[in-house]
Amino acid sequence: MIKDRVLSGYMKPYLAKLGTTQLPIILMDSFAGPGKFEDGTPGSPLIMCQMAARYGHGRCRCLFINKNKSHHRILTKTLDGFIKKKVAFTVAGESSILSSQLIATNKNFVLFGYFDPFGLKGCEFASIEKLLKRSNNRSTEVLINLNVSGLHRLAASRTVAEDRTTSEIKTHKILDDALGGKYWQRYMFDDQLKPEEKELAVVNEYKSKLKKLIPYVGSCPVREKENGKVKYQIIFCSGHLDGLALMNDFMCRIYNEHMHSVFTDNLPLLKSTDAIPDWSSDRNREKNELRIIIATAIKTNPGRARLGYWHLIIQNHFMKFLNREYNAVTRMMLDRGEIDSPTQRPTTKLNDGCILRLSGV
Ligand SMILES: C[S@@+](CC[C@H](N)C(=O)[O-])C[C@H]1O[C@@H](n2cnc3c(N)ncnc32)[C@H](O)[C@@H]1O
Repeated sequence: MIKDRVLSGYMKPYLAKLGTTQLPIILMDSFAGPGKFEDGTPGSPLIMCQMAARYGHGRCRCLFINKNKSHHRILTKTLDGFIKKKVAFTVAGESSILSSQLIATNKNFVLFGYFDPFGLKGCEFASIEKLLKRSNNRSTEVLINLNVSGLHRLAASRTVAEDRTTSEIKTHKILDDALGGKYWQRYMFDDQLKPEEKELAVVNEYKSKLKKLIPYVGSCPVREKENGKVKYQIIFCSGHLDGLALMNDFMCRIYNEHMHSVFTDNLPLLKSTDAIPDWSSDRNREKNELRIIIATAIKTNPGRARLGYWHLIIQNHFMKFLNREYNAVTRMMLDRGEIDSPTQRPTTKLNDGCILRLSGV
Protein backbone atom coordinates (compact mmCIF):
# COMPACT_ATOMS: atom_id res chain seq x y z
CA MET A 1 0.00 0.00 0.00
CA ILE A 2 1.18 3.48 -0.87
CA LYS A 3 0.92 4.77 2.73
CA ASP A 4 3.13 1.93 4.04
CA ARG A 5 5.66 2.50 1.27
CA VAL A 6 5.84 6.21 2.16
CA LEU A 7 6.28 5.35 5.85
CA SER A 8 8.94 2.66 5.36
CA GLY A 9 10.79 4.67 2.69
CA TYR A 10 11.00 7.73 4.93
CA MET A 11 11.93 5.96 8.20
CA LYS A 12 15.47 4.88 7.26
CA PRO A 13 16.86 8.29 6.15
CA TYR A 14 14.85 10.01 8.91
CA LEU A 15 16.42 7.85 11.63
CA ALA A 16 19.85 8.06 9.99
CA LYS A 17 19.62 11.88 10.09
CA LEU A 18 18.88 11.73 13.82
CA GLY A 19 22.23 10.02 14.47
CA THR A 20 23.72 13.42 15.30
CA THR A 21 21.26 14.20 18.12
CA GLN A 22 21.65 12.51 21.48
CA LEU A 23 17.96 12.84 22.35
CA PRO A 24 15.65 9.84 22.77
CA ILE A 25 13.57 9.16 19.67
CA ILE A 26 9.89 8.25 19.95
CA LEU A 27 7.90 6.79 17.07
CA MET A 28 4.23 6.89 17.95
CA ASP A 29 1.45 5.08 16.07
CA SER A 30 -1.92 6.39 17.27
CA PHE A 31 -4.06 3.96 15.26
CA ALA A 32 -1.78 0.95 15.28
CA GLY A 33 -3.96 -1.95 14.09
CA PRO A 34 -2.80 -5.58 14.43
CA GLY A 35 0.78 -4.99 13.20
CA LYS A 36 0.65 -6.85 9.92
CA PHE A 37 -1.89 -7.61 7.23
CA GLU A 38 -3.61 -10.97 6.73
CA ASP A 39 -1.15 -11.92 3.96
CA GLY A 40 1.74 -11.28 6.38
CA THR A 41 2.80 -7.95 4.84
CA PRO A 42 4.12 -5.66 7.59
CA GLY A 43 1.75 -2.87 8.69
CA SER A 44 2.95 0.37 10.24
CA PRO A 45 3.83 -1.14 13.68
CA LEU A 46 6.12 -3.81 12.25
CA ILE A 47 7.66 -1.29 9.81
CA MET A 48 8.39 1.13 12.65
CA CYS A 49 9.85 -1.54 14.97
CA GLN A 50 12.07 -3.04 12.27
CA MET A 51 13.39 0.41 11.33
CA ALA A 52 13.82 1.44 15.00
CA ALA A 53 15.79 -1.72 15.80
CA ARG A 54 18.06 -1.33 12.74
CA TYR A 55 18.56 2.40 12.44
CA GLY A 56 17.40 3.84 15.80
CA HIS A 57 20.91 4.21 17.35
CA GLY A 58 19.65 2.22 20.41
CA ARG A 59 17.63 5.30 21.44
CA CYS A 60 14.42 4.69 19.57
CA ARG A 61 11.19 3.54 21.24
CA CYS A 62 7.92 2.76 19.45
CA LEU A 63 4.57 3.38 21.15
CA PHE A 64 1.35 1.84 19.84
CA ILE A 65 -2.25 2.31 20.81
CA ASN A 66 -5.41 0.52 19.68
CA LYS A 67 -8.99 1.03 20.71
CA ASN A 68 -9.91 -2.37 19.31
CA LYS A 69 -8.99 -4.91 22.04
CA SER A 70 -8.53 -7.79 19.63
CA HIS A 71 -6.14 -5.70 17.47
CA HIS A 72 -4.27 -4.79 20.65
CA ARG A 73 -3.90 -8.48 21.59
CA ILE A 74 -2.73 -9.52 18.11
CA LEU A 75 -0.34 -6.57 17.94
CA THR A 76 1.18 -7.40 21.32
CA LYS A 77 1.79 -10.97 20.14
CA THR A 78 3.17 -9.85 16.76
CA LEU A 79 5.64 -7.45 18.40
CA ASP A 80 6.66 -9.85 21.19
CA GLY A 81 10.37 -9.85 20.28
CA PHE A 82 10.49 -6.04 20.07
CA ILE A 83 8.55 -5.68 23.35
CA LYS A 84 11.06 -7.93 25.13
CA LYS A 85 13.92 -5.78 23.82
CA LYS A 86 12.04 -2.66 25.02
CA VAL A 87 11.85 -1.25 21.51
CA ALA A 88 8.03 -1.52 21.40
CA PHE A 89 5.29 -0.72 23.90
CA THR A 90 1.62 -1.47 23.22
CA VAL A 91 -1.41 -0.06 25.03
CA ALA A 92 -5.15 -0.50 24.61
CA GLY A 93 -7.22 2.68 24.59
CA GLU A 94 -8.30 5.87 22.80
CA SER A 95 -5.64 7.34 20.56
CA SER A 96 -5.91 10.79 22.19
CA ILE A 97 -4.56 9.35 25.49
CA LEU A 98 -1.19 8.76 23.92
CA SER A 99 -0.77 12.37 22.72
CA SER A 100 -1.90 13.73 26.10
CA GLN A 101 0.51 11.54 28.04
CA LEU A 102 3.41 12.29 25.75
CA ILE A 103 3.13 16.02 26.09
CA ALA A 104 2.62 15.71 29.86
CA THR A 105 6.26 14.62 30.25
CA ASN A 106 8.79 17.46 30.45
CA LYS A 107 11.42 15.30 28.88
CA ASN A 108 12.91 16.44 25.61
CA PHE A 109 12.71 13.91 22.80
CA VAL A 110 12.42 13.70 19.06
CA LEU A 111 8.94 12.64 18.02
CA PHE A 112 7.47 11.11 14.87
CA GLY A 113 3.70 10.70 15.13
CA TYR A 114 1.66 8.57 12.73
CA PHE A 115 -2.14 8.92 12.46
CA ASP A 116 -3.77 6.26 10.31
CA PRO A 117 -7.42 5.77 11.34
CA PHE A 118 -9.96 3.91 9.18
CA GLY A 119 -12.14 6.97 8.64
CA LEU A 120 -12.09 10.35 10.33
CA LYS A 121 -13.63 9.29 13.63
CA GLY A 122 -11.28 9.58 16.57
CA CYS A 123 -8.51 11.33 14.62
CA GLU A 124 -8.91 14.57 16.54
CA PHE A 125 -7.24 17.74 15.36
CA ALA A 126 -6.77 18.72 19.03
CA SER A 127 -4.50 15.70 19.61
CA ILE A 128 -2.31 16.56 16.64
CA GLU A 129 -2.30 20.23 17.70
CA LYS A 130 -1.03 19.27 21.17
CA LEU A 131 1.94 17.46 19.66
CA LEU A 132 2.77 20.25 17.23
CA LYS A 133 2.56 22.84 20.00
CA ARG A 134 5.29 21.16 22.06
CA SER A 135 7.77 23.87 22.98
CA ASN A 136 10.50 22.12 20.98
CA ASN A 137 8.26 21.47 18.01
CA ARG A 138 11.13 21.60 15.52
CA SER A 139 11.87 18.02 16.54
CA THR A 140 8.32 16.85 15.88
CA GLU A 141 7.16 15.33 12.62
CA VAL A 142 3.68 14.04 11.93
CA LEU A 143 2.20 11.92 9.14
CA ILE A 144 -1.60 11.85 8.84
CA ASN A 145 -3.74 9.76 6.50
CA LEU A 146 -6.72 12.03 6.09
CA ASN A 147 -9.71 10.12 4.77
CA VAL A 148 -11.18 12.34 2.06
CA SER A 149 -13.74 9.97 0.56
CA GLY A 150 -15.65 9.89 3.87
CA LEU A 151 -16.18 13.67 3.94
CA HIS A 152 -19.38 13.60 1.87
CA ARG A 153 -21.15 10.93 3.93
CA LEU A 154 -20.26 12.65 7.19
CA ALA A 155 -21.28 16.10 5.91
CA ALA A 156 -24.63 14.69 4.67
CA SER A 157 -24.97 17.76 2.43
CA ARG A 158 -28.10 16.49 0.70
CA THR A 159 -29.95 15.95 3.96
CA VAL A 160 -28.92 19.43 5.08
CA ALA A 161 -29.99 21.00 1.74
CA GLU A 162 -33.39 19.33 1.91
CA ASP A 163 -33.67 20.43 5.52
CA ARG A 164 -34.92 16.97 6.37
CA THR A 165 -33.58 17.17 9.86
CA THR A 166 -34.37 19.51 12.68
CA SER A 167 -31.83 18.16 15.12
CA GLU A 168 -28.10 18.52 14.58
CA ILE A 169 -26.62 15.79 12.43
CA LYS A 170 -24.49 13.56 14.66
CA THR A 171 -21.75 12.94 12.10
CA HIS A 172 -21.00 16.70 11.96
CA LYS A 173 -19.32 16.47 15.35
CA ILE A 174 -16.93 13.85 13.91
CA LEU A 175 -15.94 16.34 11.19
CA ASP A 176 -15.64 19.26 13.64
CA ASP A 177 -13.33 17.21 15.86
CA ALA A 178 -11.23 15.69 13.07
CA LEU A 179 -10.83 18.89 11.07
CA GLY A 180 -10.52 21.26 14.02
CA GLY A 181 -13.52 23.52 13.41
CA LYS A 182 -16.69 24.08 11.42
CA TYR A 183 -14.99 25.67 8.40
CA TRP A 184 -15.63 22.49 6.35
CA GLN A 185 -19.32 23.50 6.14
CA ARG A 186 -18.39 26.52 4.00
CA TYR A 187 -17.17 24.16 1.28
CA MET A 188 -19.20 20.98 1.74
CA PHE A 189 -22.53 22.86 1.64
CA ASP A 190 -21.56 25.04 -1.34
CA ASP A 191 -23.56 23.61 -4.27
CA GLN A 192 -21.52 25.65 -6.74
CA LEU A 193 -18.54 23.37 -6.02
CA LYS A 194 -18.00 19.93 -7.54
CA PRO A 195 -17.37 17.08 -5.04
CA GLU A 196 -13.61 17.05 -5.69
CA GLU A 197 -13.44 20.86 -5.35
CA LYS A 198 -15.14 20.60 -1.96
CA GLU A 199 -12.64 17.95 -0.84
CA LEU A 200 -9.66 19.97 -2.03
CA ALA A 201 -10.90 23.16 -0.33
CA VAL A 202 -11.36 21.32 2.99
CA VAL A 203 -7.92 19.68 2.72
CA ASN A 204 -6.28 23.02 1.87
CA GLU A 205 -7.81 24.72 4.88
CA TYR A 206 -6.87 21.77 7.11
CA LYS A 207 -3.27 22.12 5.88
CA SER A 208 -3.34 25.89 6.51
CA LYS A 209 -4.41 25.21 10.09
CA LEU A 210 -1.47 22.81 10.50
CA LYS A 211 0.88 25.39 8.97
CA LYS A 212 0.02 27.79 11.77
CA LEU A 213 1.48 25.19 14.15
CA ILE A 214 4.51 23.92 12.20
CA PRO A 215 6.31 25.59 9.27
CA TYR A 216 6.36 22.86 6.62
CA VAL A 217 3.32 20.91 5.46
CA GLY A 218 3.00 18.87 2.26
CA SER A 219 0.53 16.29 1.03
CA CYS A 220 0.16 13.41 -1.40
CA PRO A 221 -3.22 12.35 -2.84
CA VAL A 222 -3.97 8.63 -3.01
CA ARG A 223 -6.25 7.45 -5.84
CA GLU A 224 -7.08 4.02 -7.14
CA LYS A 225 -6.85 4.98 -10.81
CA GLU A 226 -5.52 7.83 -12.90
CA ASN A 227 -7.85 10.83 -12.65
CA GLY A 228 -9.93 8.74 -10.22
CA LYS A 229 -11.35 9.96 -6.95
CA VAL A 230 -8.92 10.80 -4.15
CA LYS A 231 -9.45 8.27 -1.35
CA TYR A 232 -7.21 9.93 1.18
CA GLN A 233 -4.45 12.49 1.44
CA ILE A 234 -1.20 11.62 3.18
CA ILE A 235 -0.29 14.83 4.98
CA PHE A 236 3.23 15.39 6.27
CA CYS A 237 4.21 18.07 8.81
CA SER A 238 7.77 18.94 9.73
CA GLY A 239 9.75 21.66 11.47
CA HIS A 240 12.67 21.14 9.11
CA LEU A 241 13.13 21.88 5.43
CA ASP A 242 15.39 18.81 5.25
CA GLY A 243 12.44 16.67 6.32
CA LEU A 244 10.16 18.28 3.72
CA ALA A 245 12.80 17.80 1.00
CA LEU A 246 13.26 14.14 1.90
CA MET A 247 9.51 13.50 1.93
CA ASN A 248 9.04 15.45 -1.32
CA ASP A 249 11.19 12.94 -3.18
CA PHE A 250 9.60 9.88 -1.53
CA MET A 251 6.07 11.00 -2.18
CA CYS A 252 6.81 12.06 -5.77
CA ARG A 253 8.45 8.74 -6.57
CA ILE A 254 6.00 6.48 -4.73
CA TYR A 255 2.91 8.32 -6.05
CA ASN A 256 4.12 8.10 -9.66
CA GLU A 257 5.22 4.46 -9.32
CA HIS A 258 1.80 3.64 -7.87
CA MET A 259 -0.12 5.44 -10.65
CA HIS A 260 2.14 3.82 -13.25
CA SER A 261 1.48 0.33 -11.85
CA VAL A 262 -2.30 1.04 -11.85
CA PHE A 263 -1.92 1.98 -15.53
CA THR A 264 0.14 -1.09 -16.46
CA ASP A 265 -2.20 -3.42 -14.52
CA ASN A 266 -4.79 -2.55 -17.17
CA LEU A 267 -2.42 -3.70 -19.91
CA PRO A 268 -1.56 -7.24 -18.73
CA LEU A 269 -0.20 -8.37 -22.09
CA LEU A 270 2.29 -5.54 -22.28
CA LYS A 271 3.13 -5.41 -18.58
CA SER A 272 5.83 -8.08 -18.61
CA THR A 273 7.46 -6.73 -21.76
CA ASP A 274 9.57 -3.59 -21.93
CA ALA A 275 7.05 -1.96 -24.29
CA ILE A 276 5.84 0.35 -21.53
CA PRO A 277 8.60 2.70 -20.41
CA ASP A 278 9.21 3.42 -16.75
CA TRP A 279 7.26 6.45 -15.37
CA SER A 280 10.43 8.46 -14.83
CA SER A 281 11.67 8.07 -18.41
CA ASP A 282 9.16 10.52 -19.84
CA ARG A 283 8.96 13.61 -17.69
CA ASN A 284 9.47 16.22 -20.40
CA ARG A 285 6.21 18.01 -19.61
CA GLU A 286 7.20 18.25 -15.92
CA LYS A 287 10.74 19.39 -16.82
CA ASN A 288 9.38 22.17 -19.06
CA GLU A 289 7.07 23.28 -16.29
CA LEU A 290 9.97 23.17 -13.81
CA ARG A 291 12.10 25.36 -16.10
CA ILE A 292 9.45 28.11 -15.96
CA ILE A 293 9.04 27.70 -12.19
CA ILE A 294 12.82 28.04 -11.65
CA ALA A 295 13.02 31.20 -13.79
CA THR A 296 10.07 32.73 -11.90
CA ALA A 297 11.58 31.79 -8.52
CA ILE A 298 14.91 33.45 -9.41
CA LYS A 299 13.16 36.56 -10.73
CA THR A 300 10.94 37.02 -7.69
CA ASN A 301 13.49 35.99 -5.01
CA PRO A 302 16.91 37.11 -6.33
CA GLY A 303 20.21 36.25 -4.65
CA ARG A 304 19.57 32.69 -3.47
CA ALA A 305 21.66 29.57 -3.96
CA ARG A 306 20.57 26.47 -5.88
CA LEU A 307 19.45 24.70 -2.68
CA GLY A 308 17.51 27.80 -1.56
CA TYR A 309 15.47 27.81 -4.77
CA TRP A 310 14.81 24.09 -4.40
CA HIS A 311 13.46 24.68 -0.90
CA LEU A 312 11.17 27.40 -2.25
CA ILE A 313 9.93 25.10 -5.02
CA ILE A 314 9.11 22.15 -2.76
CA GLN A 315 7.06 24.43 -0.50
CA ASN A 316 4.99 25.76 -3.40
CA HIS A 317 4.89 22.64 -5.60
CA PHE A 318 5.21 19.78 -3.12
CA MET A 319 5.89 16.32 -4.63
CA LYS A 320 5.62 17.50 -8.24
CA PHE A 321 9.33 17.17 -9.05
CA LEU A 322 12.34 15.15 -7.89
CA ASN A 323 15.50 16.81 -6.64
CA ARG A 324 17.54 15.15 -9.39
CA GLU A 325 15.15 16.59 -12.01
CA TYR A 326 15.60 20.04 -10.50
CA ASN A 327 19.40 19.70 -10.63
CA ALA A 328 19.24 18.44 -14.23
CA VAL A 329 16.98 21.33 -15.31
CA THR A 330 19.20 23.99 -13.66
CA ARG A 331 22.22 22.40 -15.42
CA MET A 332 20.36 22.53 -18.74
CA MET A 333 19.41 26.18 -18.15
CA LEU A 334 23.06 26.97 -17.39
CA ASP A 335 24.22 25.18 -20.56
CA ARG A 336 21.66 27.07 -22.64
CA GLY A 337 22.78 30.39 -21.16
CA GLU A 338 19.39 31.05 -19.48
CA ILE A 339 20.98 31.28 -16.02
CA ASP A 340 24.48 31.81 -14.67
CA SER A 341 26.26 31.77 -11.32
CA PRO A 342 28.84 34.23 -9.92
CA THR A 343 29.95 31.65 -7.30
CA GLN A 344 33.61 30.54 -7.53
CA ARG A 345 33.74 26.76 -8.01
CA PRO A 346 36.34 24.20 -9.08
CA THR A 347 34.51 23.19 -12.28
CA THR A 348 31.71 24.72 -14.35
CA LYS A 349 29.25 22.35 -12.64
CA LEU A 350 26.70 23.86 -10.26
CA ASN A 351 26.46 22.75 -6.63
CA ASP A 352 23.85 23.47 -3.94
CA GLY A 353 25.79 26.50 -2.68
CA CYS A 354 25.99 28.26 -6.08
CA ILE A 355 24.04 31.51 -6.32
CA LEU A 356 21.77 31.43 -9.37
CA ARG A 357 20.98 34.46 -11.56
CA LEU A 358 18.94 34.95 -14.68
CA SER A 359 21.36 35.70 -17.50
CA GLY A 360 21.37 39.19 -18.94
CA VAL A 361 19.41 40.69 -16.03
C1 LIG B 1 -6.30 1.72 9.39
S1 LIG B 1 -6.02 0.78 10.82
C2 LIG B 1 -4.33 1.03 11.09
C3 LIG B 1 -3.47 0.27 10.17
C4 LIG B 1 -2.00 0.44 10.48
N1 LIG B 1 -1.57 1.82 10.41
C5 LIG B 1 -1.15 -0.40 9.54
O1 LIG B 1 -0.52 0.12 8.62
O2 LIG B 1 -1.10 -1.61 9.76
C6 LIG B 1 -6.75 1.70 12.09
C7 LIG B 1 -6.66 1.07 13.49
O3 LIG B 1 -6.98 2.07 14.46
C8 LIG B 1 -7.84 1.54 15.46
N2 LIG B 1 -8.67 2.66 15.98
C9 LIG B 1 -9.77 3.19 15.42
N3 LIG B 1 -10.21 4.23 16.16
C10 LIG B 1 -9.34 4.37 17.20
C11 LIG B 1 -9.24 5.27 18.28
N4 LIG B 1 -10.12 6.25 18.46
N5 LIG B 1 -8.22 5.14 19.14
C12 LIG B 1 -7.29 4.14 18.96
N6 LIG B 1 -7.36 3.24 17.95
C13 LIG B 1 -8.37 3.34 17.09
C14 LIG B 1 -8.64 0.48 14.74
O4 LIG B 1 -9.05 -0.51 15.62
C15 LIG B 1 -7.61 -0.07 13.74
O5 LIG B 1 -6.92 -1.11 14.34
